[in-house]
Formats: sequence, C-alpha cells, structure tokens
Amino acid sequence: MKFFVDTADLEEIREAESMGILDGVTTNPSLMRKAGNVNFHEHIYRICELVDGDVSAEVTAVDYAGIMEQARQLAPIHKNVVVKVPLIPDGVKALKTCSEEGIRTNCTLCFSSTQALIAAKAGANYISPFIGRLDDISSNGMELIEQIVRIYRQYGFATEVLAASIRHPMHVVEAALIGADVATMPLGVIEKLLHHPLTDIGLERFLADWRAYEAASVTP
Ligand code: E4P
Repeated sequence: MKFFVDTADLEEIREAESMGILDGVTTNPSLMRKAGNVNFHEHIYRICELVDGDVSAEVTAVDYAGIMEQARQLAPIHKNVVVKVPLIPDGVKALKTCSEEGIRTNCTLCFSSTQALIAAKAGANYISPFIGRLDDISSNGMELIEQIVRIYRQYGFATEVLAASIRHPMHVVEAALIGADVATMPLGVIEKLLHHPLTDIGLERFLADWRAYEAASVTP
C-alpha cells in the first residue's frame, strides 16, 4: 500500500518525507488555503521537489474548457504532478481528454461505486473515495472502498484506488485489508500508525535494565 500525505504544508511534507515511507502528496483547495498566501503553481512545484512521488494538484474550474485549461497548465509544472479533477459530468469529459493527452489524473470527491466505475471508464489514474466524509453522515465509507476494489479487479481497470478523507489508523488498516492501492492521510495519522504504547514501555524497560547492567558490570 502506498502512503500519501494529505496536506499542502511544506513542513509537514518534509516531516513525512523524512520518515522514509512517503510515496506522494495530495492537496486540495482547502489545504492550499491553509498553506497561506502562496502562489499555487510555485507551491506545487516546491512540493514536487520535496517528494519522489505523485503530487495531486486540484483544478477549480467546473466546466470542461476551464478544467482542461487548468489541467494543461498544472501538468507541465513537474513530472510528479497528477491533476485532480472533480467527479462531475464535465470532469468526466476532462478525464477522458486528459487520458488521451497523457495528463495523469486523480478523480476526486467520489462517494459512490457508480461514480468510481465511470471515472475508471473515463481513464482516471486514481479514484479518491472520501471515507471520513461518508462516515460523518452515518454512511459506511469502507464499504465503498470494498465495492470499488471489487469492481475494478473484476474488470481489470488500471485506475488505482486512493482511500481519502482518512481520519484515524483503523481507516488505514481496513483499507489495506481490502486492498486499496493508496491511503492519503494527514501527517498526524501517519504518526499514529507508528505509535504503540507497549513499544514505548518495552523500550523504556530495556534501556533501564541496560543502564543497571552497565552500572553493575565490571569493566576490564
Ligand atoms: C483527498 O485527496 C482529500 O484531499 C482529502 O482526503 C479530504 O479529506 P477531508 O475529508 O478530511 O477534508
């Protein structure tokens, strides 16, 4: 399973990258807003230079011509750029054109398996089902991941399933068990994946015993 960090904050991206397990980055307009007063294209370039992996940059147009114009501007910024396109009718048309033009895409805001099927048929490189936002409205985000993985395998679609809107480690575990290709998550969730209190307690005891051993041992 690939791990992407879901942020536009350069410090957070550096931190995730320094862990040595980062495979890419996803951004969106809300995350860009949080990043502050930065130039969008320059900021995406900076992110791409930090990470050896795919970096999603989202279009903000909602009509076909506008989406394509933005996609054609975003894609040449860096070889790592993947253009994020919303799952709306004009977005689907744009996915198809992007695929024909060799522009890689991440189809975002997916909330149903029928949407995911359409995105794959249109040639999206990634599909982003939003688990947390479905859970928030008492729906089951993980069931959606399961359905999409099954449908894509059944028909041999190359579109990668990118589990998005991840809120906690169990989302990652369940998505991994189902076979999602990628999980994108905030830095805090990546850090939680690593943490276990028994590891900390065990290490503390080992180190205390080692100190006692050293204090008691006869040095030659
Ligand atoms: C995915 O690419 C999105 O940026 C993200 O996962 C959305 O997550 P949220 O629901 O926590 O905003």
